[in-house]
Amino acid sequence: MNKYILGIESSCDDTSAAVLRGNVILSNIIANQSVHKAYGGVVPELASRAHQQNIIPVIDQAIRQAKISKKDVSAVAFTRGPGLLGSLLVGTSFAKAFALSQNIPLIEVDHLEAHILAHFIDNANNSKSPDFPFLCLTVSGGHTQIVKVSSYTQMEVIGQTIDDAAGEAFDKVAKIMGLSYPGGPVIDKLASEGNPQAFSFPMTDMSELNYSFSGLKTSVLYFLRDQLKKDKDFIDKNKADIASSVQYTIIKILMKKLKKAAKQTGIKEIAIAGGVSANSGLRQAITQTAEELNWNTYIPKFQYTTDNAAMIAIAGYFKYQDKIFASQSIAPYSRSGAKKR
Ligand code: KG4
Ligand code: ZN
Repeated sequence: MNKYILGIESSCDDTSAAVLRGNVILSNIIANQSVHKAYGGVVPELASRAHQQNIIPVIDQAIRQAKISKKDVSAVAFTRGPGLLGSLLVGTSFAKAFALSQNIPLIEVDHLEAHILAHFIDNANNSKSPDFPFLCLTVSGGHTQIVKVSSYTQMEVIGQTIDDAAGEAFDKVAKIMGLSYPGGPVIDKLASEGNPQAFSFPMTDMSELNYSFSGLKTSVLYFLRDQLKKDKDFIDKNKADIASSVQYTIIKILMKKLKKAAKQTGIKEIAIAGGVSANSGLRQAITQTAEELNWNTYIPKFQYTTDNAAMIAIAGYFKYQDKIFASQSIAPYSRSGAKKR
């Protein structure tokens, strides 16, 4: 199918646009918002304002880099949710206006499903995409889920966090340690120089296939508070060991339930997705477990782990093939459970 799909992502603090021909990405432009760095987290009001400033130049650049004109676009896919409502509204409004002005179909995409479908981008050049059904551990700044994926459009969440997401745990610990935002990549880098067994933090064991990360953040907070009383330079002196030990604990928690899910379902096709799937320790743990348990594992290309519009465009491509289109009256949703027609 040589149709061009324009994808638009604006759920959090990255404004992104991508153009896809078939399943091949022609462009994937991402504008990061540096305005949040000073606050150690995303400020929703500033995020939506920055999306408004970025959206037209980002889309213009995506179309130009794809060497097409806007008249060539066959459909526009956008992130409907979950995410920050003010941010989602910018992408949704733009997508609607674009579809209306070009008289082309509008396609709504769920952000979390798109993270998973990133595995099918450009698979002509990819080694191999997962076979259905597969399990996907989706780990991002806002979500931690184990999803059973039966087709491009059929997905069932079989386990999830009841509080913080794994990425949030990385970010919050980094903030406690005085590291920059987002904390995940900073902890990842520091962890490679530290000892993962230097300090031990408790693992909260939830029922079934669920997760909890808020206890870990609190135990790190109390541990550091106690150590700082004895030595005010404790964090500075032990940065790498603290980062490595925290990362080790997060990965151990993630892997435990993923192994349980694989055992329960009998599925050995295992993928990871979302911002935290960029983590080198998690990538290593998945690869190692694959050898032990005979899994076929799928790790997304680095550029498709954190938020991007290429994943929105590929999700749109599968819906386009099935002619699943949205109407002009569609509204964004902030949480998965709040999805409305
Ligand atoms: O998927 P994503 O870009 O946005 C959401 O949908 O939330 O994920 C962002 C999250 C942040 O929490 C960030 O700290 C984390 O992904 N992250 C990482 C790494 N790179 C990004 N966490 C651990 N290690 C990394 N290398
Ligand atoms: Zn995301």
